[in-house]
Amino acid sequence: MKSMVAYNGREIPEEDKVFAACKKALDAVSEYGPDEVINATVGALYDDEGQLLVFRSVDRLMKALRPEDFAAYAPIAGTPGFRKAILKAALSGFEPKSYTCAIGTPGGTAAIRNAIANYSCPGDRILTHNWHWAPYKSIAGEMYRGIEYFELFDEEGRFNTADFDYKVKKLIRNQEHLVIILNTPANNPTGYTLTMDDWYAVKKTLDEIPLEKKTALVLDVAYIDFAGEPDEVRRFYSVIDNLRSNILPIIAYSASKTFTLYGGRCAAMICLAHSPDVAEEFEKVNSYSSRATWSNPPRAPQEVIERIYSDETLLAEVEAERAEARDMLLSRGKAFEEEAEKCGLKTVPFSAGFFVTIPCDDPDGVCDRLSEKNVFLIPFEGGVRASIAASSEDKCRRLPALIKAAMD
Ligand SMILES: Cc1ncc(COP(=O)(O)O)c(C=O)c1O
Repeated sequence: MKSMVAYNGREIPEEDKVFAACKKALDAVSEYGPDEVINATVGALYDDEGQLLVFRSVDRLMKALRPEDFAAYAPIAGTPGFRKAILKAALSGFEPKSYTCAIGTPGGTAAIRNAIANYSCPGDRILTHNWHWAPYKSIAGEMYRGIEYFELFDEEGRFNTADFDYKVKKLIRNQEHLVIILNTPANNPTGYTLTMDDWYAVKKTLDEIPLEKKTALVLDVAYIDFAGEPDEVRRFYSVIDNLRSNILPIIAYSASKTFTLYGGRCAAMICLAHSPDVAEEFEKVNSYSSRATWSNPPRAPQEVIERIYSDETLLAEVEAERAEARDMLLSRGKAFEEEAEKCGLKTVPFSAGFFVTIPCDDPDGVCDRLSEKNVFLIPFEGGVRASIAASSEDKCRRLPALIKAAMD
């Protein structure tokens, strides 16, 4: 007997490309030392000394928790204090006209999972952009949904309104439900942020979906708090607030990056519902799915976030630390762009975030050649991704020429 697994049509690779590249980079660091290696694989923020950046305020609050704050079960939908706090964090100054409801989930991953589970049917196709976070496909596949991509960019490198419109209309001809996932601001892997004009185009397409077809628009905003000024990067909420009754926007808001709580597994799915009934139903069905999948979300990070939002001084401290980290990241992005320009390295349109992507025909080959020089990137379909979040500014300056040489 060679296998006991019921694969059910899934193609499961021997190893995850991201984790494999990450492991190779860590092995190289152990062998040659951190200064000799550029590990641009990781989707987490590291300081210029190569240490995982954890906000001091969050660290202090985590350590101050009492046993009952982390050991007790949290309610299935999250603690009431956390649910209010995370809504404030996600919306910032924005006051929606829609009916909101926030459900705590173990990470943005789980929010996306619940959205697909409850707003599409087995056999449906989920729509997202071709440049995307790879787990969308496996999350959908685990629940017997397929995936369809629209081209994120047109020939001029702008948001591809025409292909978005075409794919939405194609899918709703054959499905009663449609889940669309848009990962912006600071898309992973490209760093692209939809402009307000892009959003007006998205809204125009959504407005044309026949009323009997039900659409959930999942906004994966995992990197929102590192994309720019908090209110500026949330301006697009006004476009997706108060849409027609057949469109349900769901914000997947993760604490992983925003509060440097990656391993804490904390996030929320937040609806902007057209009616109180749809918001109530959102709470009921998603709580049901949570109970049947992971049960209760971890309590410790919820306690920490609730405390941050019940103390203005603490909140200001967290925000100041985050602003400092955001500025560091934006300077790294600028450094990378400047050097890319100098050596003629073309990147996919980038505005902010943890990653820069370089389009190329042979991503695996480019990554292999770079790894011989102790430089580690992630191969994607159609390009290679460099994590500027995990590389110091000096390394971000060195990367473009190294990548260009590996491509040439
Ligand atoms: C685009 C995107 N969405 C969602 C997530 C999920 O993050 P988490 O489950 O840690 O909140 C990630 C994490 O890397 C991501 O890059």
